[in-house]
Amino acid sequence: MTAADGGTGPKAAPRVLFVYYSYTGQTAKVLDGAAEAFRQRGCEVHTAAIEFVDAKYAEPFTRFPMRKVWPDMFSVLPAQNRGQTGEIRTPDAVRDGNYDLVCLGSPTWWDTVSMPLRSFLTSAEAAPLLDGTPYAVFVVCRRKWRRNLEAVRELADKNGGRFADSIHFGYPGGELPSLLSLASYLGSGEYRDRYLGLKLPPTNISDAQVGQARTFAAKLADRLFGKRDATSV
Ligand SMILES: Cc1cc2nc3c(=O)[nH]c(=O)nc-3n(C[C@H](O)[C@H](O)[C@H](O)COP(=O)(O)O)c2cc1C
Repeated sequence: MTAADGGTGPKAAPRVLFVYYSYTGQTAKVLDGAAEAFRQRGCEVHTAAIEFVDAKYAEPFTRFPMRKVWPDMFSVLPAQNRGQTGEIRTPDAVRDGNYDLVCLGSPTWWDTVSMPLRSFLTSAEAAPLLDGTPYAVFVVCRRKWRRNLEAVRELADKNGGRFADSIHFGYPGGELPSLLSLASYLGSGEYRDRYLGLKLPPTNISDAQVGQARTFAAKLADRLFGKRDATSV
């Protein structure tokens, strides 16, 4: 039983779980902001970072910066296009009882949900977690958020999840400049002004976007759990 179904009394803290994959920490950064807002509203927040351990596909994502940025990025393109899944590991939090809200943190890989999160949402662990449970989606990408969100919603709905809300975050710049800026960062681990002779826009999640995640989470908590703060628990 959870706070939402009244099983532990009106003052029980709503339980919120964040399930996500994050290679360079951008998705984790946005979710940290949201987690803080949920905690300030008296929620009990749990996190479950998915580990990508697939023998065929995970190797380029086991280190940062990437060794060879373009081949490493393209290594998952055909598999992403096929909607393939791979081996992952999840922490006990995904198996530890019921939650009042599940937040899915979803970076875009090749215009759709990343293989690690897709693998979780198609695993046997997803339905017990999501069935009848409200879920929210946090999409983090350079530009392409829509098909990622659609894929996550389809998979989460199939597991019986009840869509509550979504938010997406992108990086500045047009298609080519933002791609070069991200590739420069992924390949060097540094923020550079120029790459291949071109001026680069900033890449990755900004402090302002973390603030947007906080505001989004605060509104969602108020809507789902009623107005409360950390002292209501
Ligand atoms: C293999 C790979 C493919 C990507 N493909 C896309 C894409 O098609 N569209 C896009 O907007 N961003 C794309 N990105 C950028 C990521 O969405 C962005 O770097 C992500 O938000 C990083 O989040 P993370 O650090 O939490 O993993 C790609 C990144 C990687 C590593």
